[in-house]
Amino acid sequence: MRTDIQRQAKGKISALRDLYACSGTQIGAFMKSAIYPGSFDPVTFGHLDVIRRAAKIFDGLTVSVLNNKLKTPLFSVEERVKILKEAVKDIPNVEVESFSGLLVDYARSRDVHVVIRGLRAITDFEYELQNAQTNAKLSNGGLDTIFLTTSLEYAYLSSSSVKEIASFHGDISMCVPEFVAELVYQKYGLEKK
Ligand code: PNS
Repeated sequence: MRTDIQRQAKGKISALRDLYACSGTQIGAFMKSAIYPGSFDPVTFGHLDVIRRAAKIFDGLTVSVLNNKLKTPLFSVEERVKILKEAVKDIPNVEVESFSGLLVDYARSRDVHVVIRGLRAITDFEYELQNAQTNAKLSNGGLDTIFLTTSLEYAYLSSSSVKEIASFHGDISMCVPEFVAELVYQKYGLEKK
């Protein structure tokens, strides 16, 4: 038999559910900060789509560029941070910074418990699942990963294909913002398309 308190609690829970159902953005009021880590070499429209959508769900989003000493990127970490800052300057609750070392240590230092990653296709899934589970284990359950499925129009996009197309002077205008395209062509000593 239910007590009055249980009945009242059930009523409150279903009222909250109705509130959530009314507006997706309302959910944001209940979610704190998240980190969106990546190489972003360079940032694509696919990344920007994930950033915009995550910024609507969370109060604050930090886009974090990995300073990976093992890779030779096209853009330095400072360049990538600068490019990203320009690309997200119209989204008020998004900040950009770099990090090095383990993601779990960086997240802990920021007191953030949620990582955002975009999922394009099944091919991403295995790698992303392994990373998410590794991070959950390394953090003793203190760091969870939330996946946003990439919007269909950007499902084919990757930073690697952008670089390959640009290096052969192909058109990357449908992949990255115009100012980014210019910088990418410059790196290959090419004129803008
Ligand atoms: O854009 P990318 O290259 O797919 O991003 C990969 C990234 C930066 C999310 C991942 O390599 C990462 O978190 N690296 C930091 C090092 C780390 O924590 N490794 C353990 C997780 S397996």
